[in-house]
Amino acid sequence: MVDIYASDFLTEEQKAVRDAARDFAQTELWDGIIERDTKAEFPHEKMKKMVELGFMGMMVSPEYGGSGMDTVSYVLALEEISKVDASLAVAMSVNNSLVCWGLEKYGNEEQKRKYLTPLASGQKLGAFCLSEPEAGSDATSQKTTAVDMGDYYLLNGVKNWITNGGNSSTYLVIAQTYPEQKHKGINVLIVEKGMEGFSIGRKEDKMGIRASDTHSLMFNDVKVPKENRIGADGFGFKFAMETLNGGRIGIAAQALGIAAGAYELSVKYSKERKAFGKAISEHQAIQFKLADMLTSINASRLLTLQAAKLKDAKMDYVNAAAQAKLFASQTAMDVTTEAVQVHGGYGYVKEFHVERMMRDAKITQIYEGTSEIQKIVIAREILK
Ligand code: CAA
Repeated sequence: MVDIYASDFLTEEQKAVRDAARDFAQTELWDGIIERDTKAEFPHEKMKKMVELGFMGMMVSPEYGGSGMDTVSYVLALEEISKVDASLAVAMSVNNSLVCWGLEKYGNEEQKRKYLTPLASGQKLGAFCLSEPEAGSDATSQKTTAVDMGDYYLLNGVKNWITNGGNSSTYLVIAQTYPEQKHKGINVLIVEKGMEGFSIGRKEDKMGIRASDTHSLMFNDVKVPKENRIGADGFGFKFAMETLNGGRIGIAAQALGIAAGAYELSVKYSKERKAFGKAISEHQAIQFKLADMLTSINASRLLTLQAAKLKDAKMDYVNAAAQAKLFASQTAMDVTTEAVQVHGGYGYVKEFHVERMMRDAKITQIYEGTSEIQKIVIAREILK
C-alpha cells in the first residue's frame, strides 16, 4: 500500500496511534469476523481491547477519562479498524463523535463527571438518538416529545436505527418541547438505561455492518430530570447538527477504511490468482481497476484528513466534513464492488471477505446524512 502519509505528514504520536490500531486490527479482528457478521454478534471481547487502547474517548480530555488525542489520530485509528471490522468501527465512531464530543463541548461540569467520564474511558457505551420512523433526513420533524413538567421532562416517542442501541448505558435523545417553535423548540436529553418507561425494541437484521447493534427505542412517559438537558432550552437541534458535522468525519474515515481493506485484499489476490497462463495482476483489465481504486482511496484520505485538520485547527470544517463523507462513501461503494469483480466467483462468497465489505460500504452512503444530504450541506456552504 502506498502510504500517502509521508514521513513529515504525521507527527510521531499520530503514527504511533495508526500503528497500534493497525496492529490491533490485523492481529485480532480477522479472527471470527465471518461468524460475527453471519450471526450478527456484537464484538464484546474486541471492544474490551479497544477500551484498553483508549479508543473509545480518543479526543476527550484526560480530565474526563479520555485520551486527549487529536482528530487526525482518531481518523487514522478508525481507518485501520474499518479495514477489517466496520461494525466495530461504527460503535467506536458513534461513542467518540456523536456522544462524547457533544457532552464535552456542551455538557456542564456535573454532566461531564457523571456521564462523559465513564463513556470516554470505555466503562460505558453511548448512543445518539435523532432518527425516527418518520424523521430521517428531515431531522427537524421530530415527533418524540419532551414536555416540560417543572423539574423533569416527560419523554414520549420512538427512535429508529439507533447504533449501539442495545448495549449502551447512556443515550442522547433529541425531542421536541415547543412544537410551535419548530427546530428552535427541540431539546437534547441524557437518558439512562433502566429509567422507567424506556424500553429497547427489536434488533435490526441488517444488510451490512451486521455485528453492530442497531435497535429501535421506545420512550413511554419517561421522567427525565431537568438537569439531564444539555445546553440551553431549545438548543437540541443545533446540538444535533453540530454533532453530525464532526460525526461525518468519522464516517468518512470508516468508508475510507472499508475501501482500503477491500483494495489491499484485491492486490494480494490478483498476484496469487492465475488465469490465461499468468497472474491476473498481469492483465491490464485488473491493473486498470487497481489503479482506479487506489486513486479514489488516496483522494478520500486527503479529503478526510483535511476535514480532521480543520477541526483540530478549530476552523470551519462543515463543508470539508460533508465533502469527505460524500466522496469516501462513494469510493467505498465503488472500490468494494470492483474488489468483488477482481475476485470473480470467489468474491461472491464469504471466505474472501470482499462481499461483506461491499455490504458494509452501503451504509456509509446512508447514515449520518445520506449522500444527497451531504450535497445539500455542501451547496449551502458554497452559496451562503
Ligand atoms: N451545522 C450547524 N448548524 C446547522 C447545520 C449544520 N450542518 N445544518 C443546519 N443547521 C442549523 C441551521 O443554521 C438552522 O439554525 P438557525 O435557525 O438557528 O439558523 C437550523 O439548523 C435548521 O436548519 P435548516 O432550516 O437548514 O433545516 P432543514 O430542515 O432545511 O434541514 C438538514 C437541514 C441539513 C437537511 C438537516 O435536517 C440534516 O442534516 N438532516 C440529516 C440528518 C442526519 O444526518 N441524520 C442522521 C441520523 S444520526 C445517525 O445516523 C447516527 C448513527 O447511528 C450512525
